[in-house]
Amino acid sequence: MNLVLFGPPGVGKGTQGERFSSEHGMSHLAMGDILRAAVRDETGAGKQARAYMDAGKLVPDALVVSMIEDRMAADAAAGFLLDGFPRNVAQAEALDAMLARHGLTLDKVVFMDAPESHLLERLSGRLVCRACGFGFHRHYSPPREAGRCDRCGGELSQREDDREDVVVHRLHVYNEQTEPLVAYYRGKAGFIKLDASGEMQAVYTALKEAVEG
Ligand code: AP5
Repeated sequence: MNLVLFGPPGVGKGTQGERFSSEHGMSHLAMGDILRAAVRDETGAGKQARAYMDAGKLVPDALVVSMIEDRMAADAAAGFLLDGFPRNVAQAEALDAMLARHGLTLDKVVFMDAPESHLLERLSGRLVCRACGFGFHRHYSPPREAGRCDRCGGELSQREDDREDVVVHRLHVYNEQTEPLVAYYRGKAGFIKLDASGEMQAVYTALKEAVEG
């Protein structure tokens, strides 16, 4: 099965995508995680991407398209879940061309949505492990020990781009550049609109029903 999850910052793409892909034996190709790993490892792509990410802007299309195609070629055999790619219409067109080159198709494209007040609350409370990248939330999924990752014991911190001023810009970029993907995918086979405003388990159950049902 090959899926796309898209939606605004903080809607829960990473949370739901991680769980769904691991329960279904698929590769979770999360563009933000791929970029953050490149920044951490100080690769050429990471050095180019860093300033865009810190400012909450989109990284140039050519760079993210080539990074995601490399990962897809390496990791797509058992199915994949794309999270955070595509993020504008040009990237969606590049994805269509990429899938055709690799003889692949998308089974479902899931648009996750929630009111902006929920997004702000989720992003302002997010904590991420500096070592393994696993995500928590101060109130909605707190770690067992304050400040420590349940998975690896690493230190938890706030993401640089979850500062309030950057979040405001990321939401603006989403509305201008990513929201038009709804019109691009609506009407195509496999498009699903998912209400992601409920609590995590309820959203997961709805996602499973929508994709599998
Ligand atoms: P990326 O990391 O993809 O950021 P994003 O799309 O803004 O999404 P987030 O990771 O902020 O949110 P999410 O929807 O995954 O929510 P999460 O599950 O963590 O991208 C970062 C940057 O990289 C971009 O700004 C850009 O610069 C660059 N980039 C990435 N892709 C690109 C592309 N294709 N092209 C160009 N540039 C690109 O949940 C958030 C919090 O809420 C967590 O704390 C979680 O525990 C909590 N939570 C989740 N669900 C619920 C719920 N139902 N109830 C309560 N709390 C919840």
